[in-house]
Amino acid sequence: MNSGADFIVVANRLPVDLERAEDGTQRWKHSPGGLVSALEPFLRSKSGAWVGWPGVPDVDVEEFEDDGLRLIPVTLSAADVRDYYEGFSNATLWPLYHDVVEPPVFDRAWWDSYVKVNHRFAEATAAVASPGATVWVQDYQLQLVPQLLREQRPDLRIGFFLHIPFPPVELFMQLPWRTEIVRGLLGADLVGFHRPGGAQNFLWLARRLVGLEPSRAAVGVRTRPGLIHVGDRPVRVGAFPISIDSAGLDGMARKRDTIQRAQQIRTDLGNPKKILLGVDRLDYTKGIDVRLHALQELLIEGRVDPDEVTMVQLATPSRERVEHYQRMRQGIEQVVSRINGEFGKVGHPVVHYLHQSVDRRELVAFFSAADVMVVTPVRDGMNLVCKEYVACRHDLGGTLVLSEFAGAAAELTSAFLVNPHDLDGVKNALHAALTIDPAEGRRRMRALRRQVLTHDVDRWARSFLEALGSQGLN
Ligand code: ADP
Ligand code: G6P
Repeated sequence: MNSGADFIVVANRLPVDLERAEDGTQRWKHSPGGLVSALEPFLRSKSGAWVGWPGVPDVDVEEFEDDGLRLIPVTLSAADVRDYYEGFSNATLWPLYHDVVEPPVFDRAWWDSYVKVNHRFAEATAAVASPGATVWVQDYQLQLVPQLLREQRPDLRIGFFLHIPFPPVELFMQLPWRTEIVRGLLGADLVGFHRPGGAQNFLWLARRLVGLEPSRAAVGVRTRPGLIHVGDRPVRVGAFPISIDSAGLDGMARKRDTIQRAQQIRTDLGNPKKILLGVDRLDYTKGIDVRLHALQELLIEGRVDPDEVTMVQLATPSRERVEHYQRMRQGIEQVVSRINGEFGKVGHPVVHYLHQSVDRRELVAFFSAADVMVVTPVRDGMNLVCKEYVACRHDLGGTLVLSEFAGAAAELTSAFLVNPHDLDGVKNALHAALTIDPAEGRRRMRALRRQVLTHDVDRWARSFLEALGSQGLN
């Protein structure tokens, strides 16, 4: 029997995903998404445990250690994956919390599954936490865990962080199980959001739905958390904008191998004058269609020359069995082929679209090679890709076009900020970024780097855990 853990992260996914090949062999690979990108480097530098799902249904994996990190797998059956993960988490909560850009589906059987699986995560955590341990629960898939865990283990310090936007109250009120979710989160000692607006919305809902008396002062970033008393237990509610391992990426981008690989990428693309880059999970919130339509119109109008400009879109496959995602993928692939059909030449497509995940080193080389990074989500809690791009540009080259609807826009004010619903605005920003005066580009990138390099993920995690009053770090 293993000893208890003093510091535990609980997330739907483990930082590694089990991959089964057709010949029956298995290997672990890096899990997709920003939650893992942000938390993994932080947690690996500590001695902690991580409770999560190994990414495939119906596998029972024993607890194991990976590079000093204790991984505690939670099994999901095929029905759990369908109802709790693809259903309630990704076809109800995900669209509801992202401004209902797709209509959320409210299905009672999915809710039952969400409750059941949240119980399972709470039980797995309660079983490994040592007395008085700190438990940090992550994201929208596990919003009931704080309360369920507190019922079993009142000795624990429990933090919760939401990695996606917390919606406007009018939208949240659509959810048939809205009170249960708010009560679930109130089981934590500290509830964290990216932006003050999310914290403010949650405080309002605690009053409206649970009848509590939250503090009235405005919540600020990292400071001045809100306060709610649940009985005699204080619950703090704050804003903690997440970030990345800035120094790690900066170091990787400076390596000779990376610089050579970036040059090779330019050569492979036929040495275009300018490279546009998009890097996203293939998700309808990311506005991949927005940037493609903007490029298409610029080409039609002759404001962009297809002999001079090439776009690369890297898109990690994501949630492929959810219908919203299937429709979006078809739409995007159609625009890509239209652009290439009309403006490409043999051996020289205008858009290089890879429905693939690339490894970290390769990604850093793409960031280093790109002249314009295009990040146009219609809604995004933070968006780490834009911060990663900035961290990789020690040469002060490259320009960032960023949606106002990404949480990161509040920090990266020297980017070309765009409203993704305003196609002319996006086109003008792309054009301005492609034709920017180099001195102005360097000025902007210097300001962006100052922000990203001084506000890294370590600072984020420490400020959250300090506010939680955690003793669990070493
Ligand atoms: P989300 O968490 O919604 O996926 P973020 O921008 O916050 O969005 O984080 C995405 C993470 O996944 C980043 O670390 C990014 O570098 C990584 N990523 C996205 N697309 C790819 C890809 N095609 N190949 C490799 N990494 C990717
Ligand atoms: C976002 C979410 C994470 C999620 C990731 C990947 O970052 O906030 O909770 O893990 O996307 O999505 P997936 O559904 O593949 O876990």
